[in-house]
Amino acid sequence: MADGTDQKSSNQMWGGRFASGPSAIMEEINASIGFDKKLYAQDIRGSMAHAAMLASKGIISPEDKDKITDGLNTILSEIESGSFEFSRKLEDIHMNIEARLATLIGTAAGRLHTARSRNDQVALDFRLWVKEELQKTEGMLTALIAAFLDRAEENADTVMPGFTHLQTAQPVTFGHHCMAYVEMFGRDRARVRHAIEHMDESPIGAAALAGTGYPIDRHMTAKALGFREPTRNSIDTVSDRDFALEFLSIASICATHLSRLAEEIVIWSTPQFGFIRLSDAFSTGSSIMPQKKNPDAAELVRAKTGRINGSLIALLTVMKGLPLAYSKDMQEDKEQVFDAAESLELAIAAMTGMIRDLEVRKDRMRAAAGSGYSTATDLADWLVREAGLPFRDAHHVTGNAVALAEKKGCDLADLSLEELQAIHPGITKGVFDVLSVEASVASRTSFGGTAPSEVKKQIAWWRGRN
Ligand code: ARG
Repeated sequence: MADGTDQKSSNQMWGGRFASGPSAIMEEINASIGFDKKLYAQDIRGSMAHAAMLASKGIISPEDKDKITDGLNTILSEIESGSFEFSRKLEDIHMNIEARLATLIGTAAGRLHTARSRNDQVALDFRLWVKEELQKTEGMLTALIAAFLDRAEENADTVMPGFTHLQTAQPVTFGHHCMAYVEMFGRDRARVRHAIEHMDESPIGAAALAGTGYPIDRHMTAKALGFREPTRNSIDTVSDRDFALEFLSIASICATHLSRLAEEIVIWSTPQFGFIRLSDAFSTGSSIMPQKKNPDAAELVRAKTGRINGSLIALLTVMKGLPLAYSKDMQEDKEQVFDAAESLELAIAAMTGMIRDLEVRKDRMRAAAGSGYSTATDLADWLVREAGLPFRDAHHVTGNAVALAEKKGCDLADLSLEELQAIHPGITKGVFDVLSVEASVASRTSFGGTAPSEVKKQIAWWRGRN
C-alpha cells in the first residue's frame, strides 16, 4: 500500500483544473477498474449507439463516427484477447476505454463524450449488465423448475410424512412437496420477469443530471440498445439504483428458497431420515470417517444465502442517505451485484444438478409416513363424517386413541375395533379405510391438496407455463 504522498501529473481525462495528480491513497479509494472492467462490453455497445445517434443528428461527422466505431471494435477485441492494458490511474472502465480510443484514433475520440457524462454512462452500462443477468437467471430458474416437475411427476403418489414444526403432521406425497418448490421458484421467475420490464428504460442522454442542450435523440439510442423507451427524468436517471436493488432483493428471496431446500436435503439425506440419496457428483467424503457422504453442495447453497442477503443490505445502506443526483458512493453498487450474481448462479446450478440426480427412497418415505400417528386427523374427520361428532369432540376422541396406541407402542391402524369402540361406541370397521397413509393422501382432493390426482393437475398446469 502506498503512503499517500506521491503527487503525479493530473488526470488526462478530467485534470484541466488540477495542478497535480491524486495521492496514491486517493487513487486507491477512487479507482473502480478492478471490478467495473466487467462492464466493458456494455460500455462499448453504449458508446457505439451514442456515437451513431450523434452522427445521425449532425452533432458529430459521419467520418468521426466511423473512426470511433472502428476504434471501439479494436478495443473490444483487445480486451477479449487479453492484450488490453487496464490502468488504475484512469479510474474506471469508461475512462480506460476512452483513453485507449484517443491513442488509437486521435482527436475524434474526444467527440464521443459530447452530450453525455459518466453518470448516465455508468447507469446505462450497469443497467444493461443487470438486465442480461436477469435474463440468464430466468433461464436457470426455468431449468430448475423443469427438474422439479420431472421429479414431481415420477413421485405423484410417493407417500411421505408432511411436517409442521418438523414434527410429523399428515401424510403427503413427495410429488406434492416438489411442487411446493415449483411454486416458490415460479414466483422468483415471475419477479425476475417483472424486474426486467421495470428496468427496460434507457438512461443514456440524461447526461450529468440535467439533460443536455444538444439535439440528441434518446428514443433512437434506447431502441438501438434494446430498451423499450428512454427514462423520463434525467435527475432520477443518474440517481437511481433501484434496478440493482431489485436484482438483489429478488436474489435474496430466491436464495432464501434455495436455502430452505438445501436444509431439507441435508435433513433428508441423513441416515436417520434416509429419504433421499445424493449422487456422488454432489457430495463429498470425509478425510477421517470412511462411512460418510456429506451434502456439501447443499450446505454451501445454504451458506451463499448469507452473502447474497449481505449484498442487499450493503447496497440499501449505501443508497439510503444519498441526496439526488449522483454521488460517488454509488460506485459501491457493482461489487455487491457481481458477487450476488455469481453466488446465485452457482447456487441455482448446483441445486438443479442435485434435484436431477437425487435418488428417492420410497420405502423409507412410506415407512416414515405411517409413523407418528400421521393419520390422526383422518380418524377425527371420519368421526365427524360417519359418527356425526362435532370436530372438537372428534379431536378429543382421536387424542384418546393416539394415547392408547402410544401406550401400546403401535400405530393407530393396529388398534383393534374393540379397543377403538371402547373409546367411542360410534366407531365401525369402516374406519380402517381411512387409517392408511395411501387412503389419507388420496382423500385430500381439495384444490391444491396432496391427492395424487390433484398433484397431477398442478403438474400439467405448470408444464403449460414454462
Ligand atoms: N466509476 C464511476 C461509478 O462507478 C463512474 C461514474 C463517475 N462519475 C463521476 N461523476 N465521478 O460510479
